[in-house]
Amino acid sequence: MTPSPPAKVPPGPPNDSWSGFYRDYIRDPLEYLTRLQRDFGDVVMLRAFNYRVYYLSHPDLIEQLLVTQARKFAKGRILKANKRLFGNGLLISEGDFWLRQRRLAQPAFHRARVVSYGETMARFTERLLTEWRDGETRDIHAEMMRLTLQIVAKTLFDADVAGDTQEVGRALQAITVLNSDFRRLVLTPPWLPTPTNVRAVLATHKLNSIIYRIIADRRTHPRDTGDRLSMLLAAQDEDGSRMTDRQLRDETITLFLAGHETTAIALSWTWWLLAQNPQAEAKLHAELDSVLAGRSPHPEDLPRLPYTEKAITEALRLYPPAWGIPRMALEDVEIAGYTVPKGSGVSVSSWVVHRDPRWFADPLAFRPERWDGDLQKRLPRFAYFPFGGGPRQCIGNAFALMEAQLLLATIAQKFRFRLIPDHPVVPQASITLRPKHGIRVVLESRSAHSRETRPAATAAAD
Ligand code: HEM
Repeated sequence: MTPSPPAKVPPGPPNDSWSGFYRDYIRDPLEYLTRLQRDFGDVVMLRAFNYRVYYLSHPDLIEQLLVTQARKFAKGRILKANKRLFGNGLLISEGDFWLRQRRLAQPAFHRARVVSYGETMARFTERLLTEWRDGETRDIHAEMMRLTLQIVAKTLFDADVAGDTQEVGRALQAITVLNSDFRRLVLTPPWLPTPTNVRAVLATHKLNSIIYRIIADRRTHPRDTGDRLSMLLAAQDEDGSRMTDRQLRDETITLFLAGHETTAIALSWTWWLLAQNPQAEAKLHAELDSVLAGRSPHPEDLPRLPYTEKAITEALRLYPPAWGIPRMALEDVEIAGYTVPKGSGVSVSSWVVHRDPRWFADPLAFRPERWDGDLQKRLPRFAYFPFGGGPRQCIGNAFALMEAQLLLATIAQKFRFRLIPDHPVVPQASITLRPKHGIRVVLESRSAHSRETRPAATAAAD
């Protein structure tokens, strides 16, 4: 019998470089993955003992992973390592259970419901601005985290974390800090009683008890307070069944964690990019001043604020908050002429693809104008995918975009930010892409400095 020819294997760094790979990857995953694509191409394989990870960097291959062949893949190992926290919520559940939960949760993300949260978003932002003073130094990332935390708590459970239900805020914040560092999660087994793990367990218990208490109260006194929990409580499957308390807990924590930090990060990077690009900032100000003239924006205003939208689109391109999407093959899968064996990891990185000169001219430049015209239509579908795609596409996509635009419009009407020259601003690629040391800025009230800003804004509008 003739032996079958060896399976075709994609290029990649030499087999013995796993320890080197691990060191380089942990030091700077963004740089490392960019280099992998540049040196080896759109399909790269890394191997450690029997475990293989394939990195795909071409939009058509990403489409295969996320859409065409999505059924053959499960979520990756790192997310699953967070099961203690997420439970079996939408982000990590699989198969029929995931599909049922996704259908039940969908009404909470319908357009009308999302739009109804616009007023809360603008109101909470105005409230934050009353605390800010011209000339003050603040960490704009911490401020955005605080604001989106308040908005998510209000829209999820109708809780005002800046007011009397601060315990929700404190527990959620403790968990957010833990959830952000995947290296810690991967390298430290969750059962080890390290200070971090102990804090995680205590914060999760605390949060569980609060959420179960809110659920019990809503079950005893049913009411639609307009928040997502009301929608999830009322949601019914075709057979009439509803979510159990455990499922409700898993979905609310998932929605909180998936939805709060990502939006704060998107805004933080937008502020940072605007602060370095005075022309773009001036155009934004000109648009806001002419359309809103100082009043709070409503969701209906957003179609008349195209530059505001493009500034967010462009920031999500350069700094995608969910910068990597990992999967695991459930069976042998053919991709690009290679057989990806069952059990292998397959990953894509929006950071790498969004900065690829094949799709974006001058890819490292922040140019919201690049989205004028029909760029979006001309691009291959998966050249730009900050919210993923296919069946597991972000359920909070519309909510996040509306929130980011409303917050940007509300804040940029009143303040601009000056960067502090010596403060290092570095993206930290853990599960999300947060600025590692925050972003320290000096707040500048636009009305206090109107004589300086007016010529720039007028020039940009001309
Ligand atoms: C700028 C903000 C956001 C970004 C960049 C973002 C990005 C993403 C991405 C890339 C995925 C797909 C992950 C994968 O395929 O493995 C995802 C999934 C998800 N996102 Fe978002 N997201 C954002 C905001 C939100 C918000 C506001 C919510 C909820 C209120 C949310 C809830 C979720 C959920 C529940 C999933 C899992 C969906 C499923 O598998 O069925 N996200 N997000």
